Amino acid sequence: MRFGIIGCGRISPEHLRAIDEHDSANLIACADIDAAKANTVAGQTGCTAYTDYREMLAAHTEIDVVSVLTPSGLHPEQAIDVMEQFGRHVIVEKPMALDPADADRMIASAQRSGVKLFVVKQNRYNRPVVRLREAMEAGRFGRILMGTVRVRWMRDQAYYDLADWRGTKRLDGGVLSNQAIHHLDLLLWMLGEPVSVFARTERYLVDIEAEDTAVAIVKFASGATGVIEATTACRPDDLEGSLSILGERGSVEISGIAVNELRHWRFTDSEPGEEEQLRTTLGEAPESVYGFGHGRYIDAVIQSLTSDTPGPVDGTEGRRSIELLHAIYSSAEKGTEVLI
Ligand SMILES: NC(=O)c1ccc[n+]([C@@H]2O[C@H](COP(=O)([O-])OP(=O)(O)OC[C@H]3O[C@@H](n4cnc5c(N)ncnc54)[C@H](O)[C@@H]3O)[C@@H](O)[C@H]2O)c1
Repeated sequence: MRFGIIGCGRISPEHLRAIDEHDSANLIACADIDAAKANTVAGQTGCTAYTDYREMLAAHTEIDVVSVLTPSGLHPEQAIDVMEQFGRHVIVEKPMALDPADADRMIASAQRSGVKLFVVKQNRYNRPVVRLREAMEAGRFGRILMGTVRVRWMRDQAYYDLADWRGTKRLDGGVLSNQAIHHLDLLLWMLGEPVSVFARTERYLVDIEAEDTAVAIVKFASGATGVIEATTACRPDDLEGSLSILGERGSVEISGIAVNELRHWRFTDSEPGEEEQLRTTLGEAPESVYGFGHGRYIDAVIQSLTSDTPGPVDGTEGRRSIELLHAIYSSAEKGTEVLI
């Protein structure tokens, strides 16, 4: 698979590493409106640098798949352009869009163009998360009662001042759309269809347009309750990125800073020593909140493209967290419960 990337900023090293480490992936070219950033990536990888991604795609018809790693609010137009005008597969960083209508346009565009659209949700590939999902599919929890996600991270003013787009409603959003979108995705993946949400947002410690803190209670079609607590106002360091599931026959919590550490694994049908054994074999301690998942995610994308099987997280699956995000913002604005 021959890759091109658009956007050579902070997340690009995760993609470059994933492409570099994959036997069947090759980086052909990169584009960034900031020539210095594109040149740095070209210097590191040997690919060709561009400041205009359209020029890159016109010059390199051999590129199969394009990773869109630009500010979030630019994803819809760029992804649609790459799919419709250039006919290439797209991997788009999270969040795929900031609005469900834009996500719909992207999904329709992929269908019209006969290409695949993938949304990066690398945390689904964290080892403890994979094992949790297997336990859910095997019915070990019985009825699911509650799912809780907590994001307690530190993003100070210096972080938001790194680039003009950060913290703006048009291009980024706040903690929910940028950081906690992964955790909304995990909650939806585990608990199914949401039917309503009641939310409250705050901006506590930084001067940005969007929220740095949010809480929400989600009602699921199954009757389960979802609880979301997300903040970038945790000081002085990152404290936690976690997911816990409570069912009538078991409870699991995966914590650490990036949903990577198995903290609690108990079922009424647990074998003796199961929790300790899983804690040892599944534990991962990443250096950053990005975790380890990009490599596994890109691997799943390549498998999907080469075997023409369904993708890891396609546009429709990626849209689910955007719909919930939209409902949360709407509830916080209205001060009432919002149906989804
Ligand atoms: N999966 C994850 O865990 C994860 C982590 C961090 C960021 N992200 C996502 O990745 C995206 C980028 O975030 P980042 O932290 O790398 O931001 P960044 O600001 O560091 O990088 C964005 C880059 O895009 C470039 N750019 C802007 N407009 C462009 C255009 N029209 N054409 C080409 N390049 C353009 C900028 O010059 C910049 O270099 C965001 O959507 C963010 O939410 C995902």
